[in-house]
Amino acid sequence: MLGKLDDMPRVTLGHLPTPIEAMDNLAAALGRGGGLYVKRDDCTGLAFGGNKVRQLEFYLGEARSQGADVVLITGAVQSNFVRCAAAGAVRLGMDCHVQLEERVPGKSGEYRTSGNVLLDRMLGATIHSYPDGEDEEGADRRVHEIAGELKADGRKPYVVPLSPGHKPLGALGYVDAAREILGQIDSGGIHIDEIVVASGSGSTHAGLLFGLRALGSDIRVTGVCVRREAAIQKTRIADRCREIAELLEIAPAVRDDDVITMDEFLAPGYGLLNDAALRALDMAARYEALILDPVYTAKTMAATIARATETGPDHGIMFIHTGGNPGAFAYSESLTAALEKLRAGGIS
Ligand SMILES: Cc1ncc(COP(=O)(O)O)c(C=O)c1O
Repeated sequence: MLGKLDDMPRVTLGHLPTPIEAMDNLAAALGRGGGLYVKRDDCTGLAFGGNKVRQLEFYLGEARSQGADVVLITGAVQSNFVRCAAAGAVRLGMDCHVQLEERVPGKSGEYRTSGNVLLDRMLGATIHSYPDGEDEEGADRRVHEIAGELKADGRKPYVVPLSPGHKPLGALGYVDAAREILGQIDSGGIHIDEIVVASGSGSTHAGLLFGLRALGSDIRVTGVCVRREAAIQKTRIADRCREIAELLEIAPAVRDDDVITMDEFLAPGYGLLNDAALRALDMAARYEALILDPVYTAKTMAATIARATETGPDHGIMFIHTGGNPGAFAYSESLTAALEKLRAGGIS
């Protein structure tokens, strides 16, 4: 049913399967009698884990099958993908070059030294800077230039791609996660009507949606926009789903009108917190001891809370905790101030 999925080159990096836990304290705080769950993909293990570990099992599987000896990747300064790639390269005995893009305006100090950047350094990655802001294609072009320079020096580089149009290997990690989730909810007797997940590059969202539909599940998948507005992201996910079908050589399982994207919690933009996301981060920590990050999971939790409030306990909702925890430390000053203000009642 999942075509060539199990024949694709893959390496083992993650601690899988990750647990599913009930969020009963949060459900009670929201006035629901339950029906709220979290898929703990923050617990995938590799160097603080997160969703990118599942994706890298396929990218680095391809890298190894090509005989690569150095991995290159580009991402935001506080990218979790970059940190996980650096960690995966270490595990496979490869070098890693990372390019950090200045996507988030107005940041300095701890944003450039703490959190994921500190981990990139600890993992021994060679760090390059891409000073332009949002420029996905330009950043990809530059990382390929660096790969060309390494090749000229006799190395065998592998670039983990990010911009649209590349083979959706990362999404396969979440096609597989859909299979894992369906198995777990079936054996655990858990009722799920809706999954809420961050939608950035879209690999997680598209992979999950595709995997569920290909396996005959009609669980709603709500993609929470963290980088682009809903209409643009919807097209991106629909395209990605078609590319997954091609890669796996199976029928397109996802109709375009089945792609749901929600951008209510995106403002003021990528990597910048808003009040609803701050409240969600605060509630997740205080009611469930779940540590969220300001860029991805706090906004996704804000959407989960909104959906949980709009629906009753019979509507089972699963929040995918995609990790990103180290990112919280890169925002420690602004987060501390914001949490103090929130808890003093200064944010309604
Ligand atoms: C913690 C975290 N959650 C969610 C996402 C979004 O995942 P995707 O890029 O697959 O849409 C990312 C992307 O970097 C991430 O780091």
